[in-house]
Amino acid sequence: MAKIIAGVGTSHIPSVGAAIDNGKTGIEYWKPLFDGYGAARKWMEDTKPDVAIIVFNDHASAFSLELIPTFAVGVAPEFQPADEGYGPRKVPVVKGHPELAWHLTENLILNEFDITIVNNMPVDHGLTVPLSVMCDQPKEWPCKVIPLAVNVVQYPQPTGKRCHDLGKAIRKAVESFDEDLNVVVFGTGGMSHQLQGERAGLINADFDKAFLDDLTQDVDRLVKIPHTEYLREAGSEGIELIMWLIMRGALADDAKEIYRHYHVPASNTGAGLIILENQ
Ligand code: DHB
Ligand code: FE
Repeated sequence: MAKIIAGVGTSHIPSVGAAIDNGKTGIEYWKPLFDGYGAARKWMEDTKPDVAIIVFNDHASAFSLELIPTFAVGVAPEFQPADEGYGPRKVPVVKGHPELAWHLTENLILNEFDITIVNNMPVDHGLTVPLSVMCDQPKEWPCKVIPLAVNVVQYPQPTGKRCHDLGKAIRKAVESFDEDLNVVVFGTGGMSHQLQGERAGLINADFDKAFLDDLTQDVDRLVKIPHTEYLREAGSEGIELIMWLIMRGALADDAKEIYRHYHVPASNTGAGLIILENQ
C-alpha cells in the first residue's frame, strides 16, 4: 500500500527561485538562507519519495479572478512551469501521478471534500520554488508530483480546521492506494509576510517560531487560529500558512520534527523550512 512517510513545510519566495536560477545563492544576502537548505536537500536525496503531494497556492497564474477553486487537485501527467511575467522558470517539467491523483480526488470527494479536478495547470513559484528549495537544480525532479492548489489569495479562504481535516482525509486516501509508494506531503507558502498596504514588509518572527514549535507541540492551537489572527500577527499573506495545516493533518499525531531552518529577512518574508517524519 502507499504510505505517507513525512511532511515538509517551506516558504515559496519567488526571489529564492531567481537566486537559484541565476547562480546567486552564495552571495552575502542569500548565503545564510541557502546554508540552511543543505541538510534538507540531503534528507530529500536520502529519503527518495516516490510521490510528493505539494499543497500550494496559485498566484493568479493558472486561475484568474474568473475562477477560484477552494481546493483543486491536478490529475494531469505533467504540469509546465508558468510564465509569471518574466518567462517560465527554466526548471524541469513537473511530472504528475494521474493514477494516485484520481484515487485521491475520488476518495476526497466521496469523503465530502468538494475538490475541483484540474486537467491543465501551469504551476507558478508557489509550487516550483519549494521543489527548488528541496531538490536544487536537477535535470528531472526526483519524484512524481501531485499539485493540490488551495485558495489563499481571495476571501473567503478555507479555515485552518478545514485544511487540517483535509490533510487527515488525504492520509486515509493515500493509505488505501494499492501500490507500494512512499509519499511526502509538502505544505508551502508563508511564513509571516505582507506585500501590500500600510503594513507592507511586516514580519513576525515570534509568531513564525511559535508556529514551527506547535506543529509538533500544540497542533490544536494552530488549527484554531482564525483568519483575523493570521492577518493581524502574520500579515495579509501570512494566511498562506493554512496550507501547512493540510500537510500536518496528513501526518500521524506523533510525527517528529527532524529538521528546521528559519531565516529573516528573505525577500519580504520570514523564511521557514521544517521536516516532520512519521515514526
Ligand atoms: C513574496 C512572497 C510570496 O509568498 C509571494 O507569493 C510573492 C512574493 C516575497 O517575499 O517577495
Ligand atoms: Fe505567496
